[in-house]
Amino acid sequence: MQRLNTIAAVRERVAARRAAGQRIALVPTMGFLHEGHLSLIDYARQQADCVVLSVFVNPLQFGPREDLATYPRDLDRDAKLAESRGADLLFAPAAAEMYPQERPAVTMVAPALSDRLCGRYRPGHFEGVLTVVAKLFNIVRPDVSVFGQKDFQQSVLIRRMVRDFDFAIDVAVAPIIREADGLALSSRNVYLSADERRAATALNRALRAGQSAFASGQRNPTLILDRADAVIGAEPAVGLQYLELVEPGRLDRPEIAESGHVLAIAAFSGKTRLIDNVVLGI
Ligand code: PAJ
Repeated sequence: MQRLNTIAAVRERVAARRAAGQRIALVPTMGFLHEGHLSLIDYARQQADCVVLSVFVNPLQFGPREDLATYPRDLDRDAKLAESRGADLLFAPAAAEMYPQERPAVTMVAPALSDRLCGRYRPGHFEGVLTVVAKLFNIVRPDVSVFGQKDFQQSVLIRRMVRDFDFAIDVAVAPIIREADGLALSSRNVYLSADERRAATALNRALRAGQSAFASGQRNPTLILDRADAVIGAEPAVGLQYLELVEPGRLDRPEIAESGHVLAIAAFSGKTRLIDNVVLGI
């Protein structure tokens, strides 16, 4: 696996692979890799000959009071893990390589899809995500790019950006990888104390309660949400930010719950903000 820090170098390496007839996959990450990220590499491997993993803690997607400065980083560890999982190229640019002017004058926004779920509580976050992903798409020009269902709203926005801006890229979304007790893997889980870690299981338990209400025939969104909310209410150490049922196209709240609708949650365990979601009927 080759480690590359500049846009010119990654473009050159990818161009050589493309000229050799290889299909290129891109897996964008912010690093501090865990099994969730590595599952995306596995997924990408099945879809392409050359897997490019990007590791870039994107300043543009962090709010002023968020954890940019403390976000966990360990590039040497990431490189070892990525190589052991079969990534071919690791692109890990410095912030000045991606944003020479500090803030780009032109950015990518999706107002109608950003004013709900996480976007409501993280103004500017998805603008930062879409802008960096659009840049990565233009730098690497992959045939396919793989994202995780863990960041459900992000995956919806990226699919929509690809469609609306005619990127010639297939977007694949891979399932959420979880701990044995249901907690979705996240780079931010390292922030959790033992007690906060225990309390954090309430997120997935709540979603599963809603999912099982649907499975036993409940179709009223409010009653499904009530079932999930009761689980969160029983865990005083967890502070709910939102719990919502949405349809996965426009992220609207349905009047009647259907298979394929997504039950999504964001909550704090201690100071750590966690997100999770489940798809009804699966
Ligand atoms: P990051 O949080 O590092 O996640 C990188 C990718 O890994 C995302 O597509 C995310 O959905 C996926 N992922 C995270 N945890 C997962 C889990 N438990 N199971 C499966 N997939 C998981 O998401 C970002 O970075 C950034 O916003 C990025 C897209 C890289 C743009 O900066």
